[in-house]
Amino acid sequence: MAGSAEMTRQVWERAGEAAAYVRREAALGDKTPSALVVLGSGLGDFADSAVARTVLPYGEIPHFPHSTVKGHAGRLVVGEVSRRTVCVMQGRFHYYEGLPLTDVTFGVRVSQRLGIPVVILTNAAGGLDPAFDAGDLMLITDHVSLMPDNPLRGPNEDRFGPRFPSPVGVYDRALLDVARDAAAAEGFSLREGVYAALPGPSYETEAEVRYLRLIGADAVGMSTVPEVIVAVHGGQKVLAVSTITNVLGRAPGQVVSHEEVLAVAERSRHRLGALLRGVLARPWPGEGET
Ligand code: HPA
Repeated sequence: MAGSAEMTRQVWERAGEAAAYVRREAALGDKTPSALVVLGSGLGDFADSAVARTVLPYGEIPHFPHSTVKGHAGRLVVGEVSRRTVCVMQGRFHYYEGLPLTDVTFGVRVSQRLGIPVVILTNAAGGLDPAFDAGDLMLITDHVSLMPDNPLRGPNEDRFGPRFPSPVGVYDRALLDVARDAAAAEGFSLREGVYAALPGPSYETEAEVRYLRLIGADAVGMSTVPEVIVAVHGGQKVLAVSTITNVLGRAPGQVVSHEEVLAVAERSRHRLGALLRGVLARPWPGEGET
């Protein structure tokens, strides 16, 4: 077993091999997909709306980790959505599964080796803002990482990016505007706020919910931030959307269940899909007509 420094050094090569496989199997030629879309818990069926799809089970992509969580399918779909070519990860990886964060974020590294400029991340999250309702969609405008690790820990791979990247501005303002515009056109409102990432897999205590509110978090979840940090490192822009599946701290003794999280995510997936398609259908800043 290679040590973790060795593993970090190999990510460039491993992600390159995976990217070459995806490029060949999906017959991308010299085309660069517009975005990597990562689908969170219960949100996996957006990929079914892609046309001319190539479906690559994670187990067949060289070096790709395997997803172990209920609600996460574990396949990469390459296809056209709203006339853009996108790679969609149906099923993501979490720190709580026991994987190193270099594995959790491997799909983002593969997208960087494909030259993909934008990462769109979705997740299920607990609401901390008492004004939120279960089923709301929240654009993430910033984050607080409370994970005990960072995917960039270890030797820096200069070919991906700098030793000390700054995440300020990674939730791209122009893409946030595109998402606001898409939601308005679809006729639904969006929440916006700060996402706090905890390692999980246990949900929060009541004291932790009070603490998270105090530090300025509007939603809490167990994913997304590692992928965002790796996207920052590789110079990608990010759009991230939480489905608020439950609102925390409403009543004493209130308990969150994974089944409830999946059920609410399922009820919101049509709106999330409409939002993502709307985002993909619009021109993005910094690119010519699509
Ligand atoms: N806490 C953490 N993660 C979550 C929650 C929650 O309440 N709901 C959905 N994902």
